[in-house]
Amino acid sequence: MKKILVIGSLNMDLVTEVAHIPIVGETVLAKSLAFVPGGKGANQASAAGKLGGRVAMLGAVGEDDYGRKLTESLSGMGVDTSQLLRLPGVSTGLALIGVNDQGNNNIIVVQGANLEVTPGYLQEHLPLMKESDIVVLQLEIPLETVVWAAKKAKELGKTVILDPAPAIRDLPLELYPCLDVIKPNEVELGEVLGLPEAKEQLRDSCQKLLDRGAKNVIVTLGGEGAYLLKENGEERKFDADRTVKVVDTTSAGDSFTGALALGLAMEMDLEKAVELAMKVSNIVVTRKGAQTSIPSAEEVFGEKG
Ligand code: RIB
Repeated sequence: MKKILVIGSLNMDLVTEVAHIPIVGETVLAKSLAFVPGGKGANQASAAGKLGGRVAMLGAVGEDDYGRKLTESLSGMGVDTSQLLRLPGVSTGLALIGVNDQGNNNIIVVQGANLEVTPGYLQEHLPLMKESDIVVLQLEIPLETVVWAAKKAKELGKTVILDPAPAIRDLPLELYPCLDVIKPNEVELGEVLGLPEAKEQLRDSCQKLLDRGAKNVIVTLGGEGAYLLKENGEERKFDADRTVKVVDTTSAGDSFTGALALGLAMEMDLEKAVELAMKVSNIVVTRKGAQTSIPSAEEVFGEKG
C-alpha cells in the first residue's frame, strides 16, 4: 500500500438543519445545530484513513477545544496527526453550514489556523512528503502554499491530486503541470475556467485543463455521476446510483477525493479508483455531517481485513 499525505484544512463544522437555505437579507430558523469534525483536507484524509489507507496530514489547528477534537477525530480514523501544527493564540478553522430538506448545503468558512499553513512549515516537514507517494491538496489553505507543495511534490516524483475547492478563478498556470489529477465538481470546473457553462461542453472544458498541463481531469457531476478525461484523450462517463436517498451532500466531494487517493495507493488504475470513489461518496450523501458520514472499510470492501 502506497502512502498518502494530505496537506490542507481542518475545520469544526457548525451544522444547522434548515427548511431552505436563506436568500440575501432573509432570516431562517434552524431545526438543529451539531458540531461535526470537518474541513476539506481533514475530510479527505479521514476518508482515506478510515478505509484502511496509510495516511498522514499536514495542517494547522489552534490550541483550543475544537483543535483538540479535530485532531482526535483524525487520529481515530487512522490518520497520522503527529506533525500537525497546534498554534497558541490562533482559533481553529470553523465552517458555518446550512443543510436544507433536500440535503443540499451552503458553507461559510472562517479559515483561522488554516491560514498558518505556510511553505516554511511544509519545508520543515519535508521528510514526511519525501516518504509519501501521493500528495493530496485543496484550496482552503493559502494558495501560495498549495503551489509550493504541488511543485515540491512533483519535483520529488510524487503523484499529485488537487481538489480545487473552494474554487477560484485563474489558478496560477504554474500549478497545472504539477497535477496528475485535478478533480473539480461541475460548478468548480466553471469557476476555475471562468466559464459558467463549462458543464455543457464537458469534454472541451476538461481538455482546457489538460492543455494547461494537468494529466487527468475528473469532474464530479452530483446525481449524474462523474466524468474522466485522460491525457491520451480517453474519456469515460461513470453513472451515479440514482437509487440513493440523499440526506446531506456535505463532504461528498472530499470523500470522493480521499477514496480516489486510496484507490491509487492500492495500485488501482484511475478508472477503478474513480469507481471506488463513487461508491464511497454514494454512501456519504446518505448520512449527516462531514467525517461522521464516512463509511467503514467493511462497508465498502466487504469483510474485515
Ligand atoms: O466540503 C465540506 C467541508 O467544507 C466542510 O467539512 C467544511 O469544513 C468546509 O471545509
